[in-house]
Amino acid sequence: MRLDKLLADMQAGTRSQIKQYIRQGRVTVDGSSKVSPKQQVDPDTQTVCCFGKEIHYQKYVYYMLNKPADCVTARQDAVHKTVMDYIADKRKGLSPVGRLDLDTEGLLLITDDGSLSHNLLSPAKHVEKVYEAEISGRVTEADIEAFRRGLDIGDKALTKPAVLTVLSEGAVLEGAVSRVRVVITEGRYHQVKRMFAAVGKRVVFLKRVAMGSLKLDDKLLPGEYRELTEDERDSLLKQVIAEKKDL
Ligand code: URA
Repeated sequence: MRLDKLLADMQAGTRSQIKQYIRQGRVTVDGSSKVSPKQQVDPDTQTVCCFGKEIHYQKYVYYMLNKPADCVTARQDAVHKTVMDYIADKRKGLSPVGRLDLDTEGLLLITDDGSLSHNLLSPAKHVEKVYEAEISGRVTEADIEAFRRGLDIGDKALTKPAVLTVLSEGAVLEGAVSRVRVVITEGRYHQVKRMFAAVGKRVVFLKRVAMGSLKLDDKLLPGEYRELTEDERDSLLKQVIAEKKDL
């Protein structure tokens, strides 16, 4: 690939800054600063440095954002802040994987790896999404059983079996809430809220805490993000590949 593209992809600077760095001899390829922006480099076999720091080329980037409420899961929006406004990396092709509602918080993966994104969202892959929620009123054994059997939420098919666990019970008082964990393997529109509505209950707070093998880093405050570690990225990729083989 071209040297200037490699440096731009790795966020070494804007295209014009990169040209300038190259002109100033700040960029080296295998130790030599006699380089040109158009020069072809092989990131697997050659060492590229900028200001003496080695640039490790990564084809795709993977970020986990702790999505705050009041921002939309989209690239652009005329009214609200979007999840992309929280990400300083502005490379083309970066998009959120799936959607969380305006008022839902928690784990959102943002990547330019379209294949991983497609596979994580594919209904055939049954990737587990784990939510923690606060529900108005008391969640009962009958609700747990209804979630397990599958619910009619107004779509053609019942929901796939979901695991509902009560973390703490609301008192039998008006205004009391139960804290629950819900594990679903689909990603239908407003799915968790519609499942609770189907058993006559209302979600008052919703947060995604895991998607497949990826768990929300509890050190991230709402609105903060970080790159996935190599282990996190490799486990996710492996999961999708393994599940692909199972089909
Ligand atoms: N289910 C919902 O109802 N909302 C979300 O944001 C995610 C899952």
